Amino acid sequence: MAELTLPLASRPVQGKTFKVPDGARNPRTFKIYRWDPDSGGPPRIDHYEIDLASCGPMVLDALIKIKNEIDATLTFRRSCREGVCGSCAMNIDGTNTLACTKFIDEVKEEVRIYPLPHLPVVKDLVPALGEIFRQYASIEPWLKNESAPPSRERLQSPEERAKLDGLWECILCFCCTTACPSYWWNSDRYLGPAVLLQAYRWLADSRDEAAGERLDDLEDPFRLYRCHTIMNCTKTCPKGLNPAKAIGEIKDLIIARR
Ligand code: SF4
Ligand code: SF4
Ligand code: FES
Repeated sequence: MAELTLPLASRPVQGKTFKVPDGARNPRTFKIYRWDPDSGGPPRIDHYEIDLASCGPMVLDALIKIKNEIDATLTFRRSCREGVCGSCAMNIDGTNTLACTKFIDEVKEEVRIYPLPHLPVVKDLVPALGEIFRQYASIEPWLKNESAPPSRERLQSPEERAKLDGLWECILCFCCTTACPSYWWNSDRYLGPAVLLQAYRWLADSRDEAAGERLDDLEDPFRLYRCHTIMNCTKTCPKGLNPAKAIGEIKDLIIARR
């Protein structure tokens, strides 16, 4: 039976407040989820007031400013700062997105920042992604082709290559998967939208010869069919992709082969 109320120790409490320096020209408050597994205490929401007059325009700029100038203990992932590595995915102002491509000015008033929802938290804004990556590995995300290799590349026509558009751009940020209610309730067995979009990326590849075994692996009441077309995934994808459509394409392939 699903537990519908959070255990007391999981409910965030009011944390510390870091005041903006005197003379700030453009102050803004960031309310940030904090949890340290070594503390033994519940999570807390710390309030950081910073001067946006001396900060870059993105939410990630503010997090880096806080870490560099106010509180070095704040923990978050980031790498590229360009929206291509997927590591800075978090929940900002109630929506899963990338901190490096989210403008602070898009958020009215206080900026509320939490880790991606419904995943175990490693520390602060860092979610545990081990289970999702285990699911990703389970779809065997590589080209399978037993034919004798050609002397040069395995060529595709422009039309075949175009079928991968809207799929190859996925950066595995998992904003979609962690916004999916079906994944929240069945994350142990449902693959979720990001992994299913990746599964379709290989089914759509004209060079891949393993469509039959890939579909056998996906045709399962939980791995694939927990998607109920709620569309949260497509609404939240910061790269503008459409995982729900990719899931629909997989279902169509399964119907077609019958
Ligand atoms: S469309 Fe499917 S994968 Fe996307 S949020 Fe809804 S249930 Fe989840
Ligand atoms: S489909 Fe979009 S939201 Fe989902 S993992 Fe890929 S880039 Fe991220
Ligand atoms: S830091 Fe790489 S996507 Fe944001």
